[in-house]
Amino acid sequence: MIEPTGRRAVTRTRALAVTSGKGGVGKSTVAVNLAAALVARGERVVLLDADLSLANLDVLLELTPGMNLQDVLEGRCGLHDAVRHGPAGLRVVPATQGNPRMSALSEREHAGLIQAFSDLGPELDWLVIDTAAGMTPSTLQFCAAAQDVLIVVCDEPASLADACAMVRVLKDTGRRSRFRVLVNMVAAGEDPRLTFQRMVDLTDAIAEVSLEYAGSVPYDRTVATAAREGQPAVVAHPDAPVATAVTKLARDTGRWPLSFTASGQSEFFWENKIHNEVMERRART
Ligand SMILES: Nc1ncnc2c1ncn2[C@@H]1O[C@H](COP(=O)(O)OP(=O)(O)OP(=O)(O)O)[C@@H](O)[C@H]1O
Ligand SMILES: [Mg+2]
Repeated sequence: MIEPTGRRAVTRTRALAVTSGKGGVGKSTVAVNLAAALVARGERVVLLDADLSLANLDVLLELTPGMNLQDVLEGRCGLHDAVRHGPAGLRVVPATQGNPRMSALSEREHAGLIQAFSDLGPELDWLVIDTAAGMTPSTLQFCAAAQDVLIVVCDEPASLADACAMVRVLKDTGRRSRFRVLVNMVAAGEDPRLTFQRMVDLTDAIAEVSLEYAGSVPYDRTVATAAREGQPAVVAHPDAPVATAVTKLARDTGRWPLSFTASGQSEFFWENKIHNEVMERRART
């Protein structure tokens, strides 16, 4: 759906940043499976590996070697050329493996990325962004730019404390106030809503922050099996508990309200990002 506005056409592309404070809590697992589950629902999805220093989606999905995000940023190809075809219709833009330079993109490189994605915009329903853990400048930029931020936590003090720190930084720098929280690796008998409540309690002192419970994913050994097979669990093992949970999450995204600007128009991902960058530049000068 492309709607005319006074300024430019607004697409209904939605960018969702999957992030966390602490590493290893299941961002890539959730991002890959959510993207695959959205594809299974007939949505047009690109999964972006935004872990710019330690990319691993190409390994997780056994993608054949080809162009990647670094090639796009360095002008060797356009974004279309870096979109690779993964299992079951999943389209992926891999990052590059182990290139420390990538974790510190220059402003010009970010601008190139912005341009590249805005070119792809009208063909997409969802851009699912698998970010690096923690408060790297790049992860904060991706979280600032996306319409929805899904923070993955598990029921460990460090995971919750680090997620809370991330919320605080994103709020304090004026970038975001609304977050969705997904509780991953839920053990049998554990109530994920209590974990969510602990996170709410921890963020209570941060003014004007809103956390919404996005759901939970159980601890399921199928995740490791599917990773070894180079397939998302929702594709290779659709009846597994992890697949059932992520399929429900994909269905629930249909009920997530769109972010609206003060003028009542839905914001397009990179417009939001460009706006933030312009404001930051103005604030510096
Ligand atoms: N629901 C789950 N059940 C069982 N194992 C899981 C689950 N989610 C993730 N894992 C396992 O936990 C490990 C970390 O998962 P994953 O790589 O998705 O985390 P991450 O947050 O992306 O990590 P990083 O911060 O390094 O990018 C992997 O070995 C994965 O197989
Ligand atoms: Mg990861």
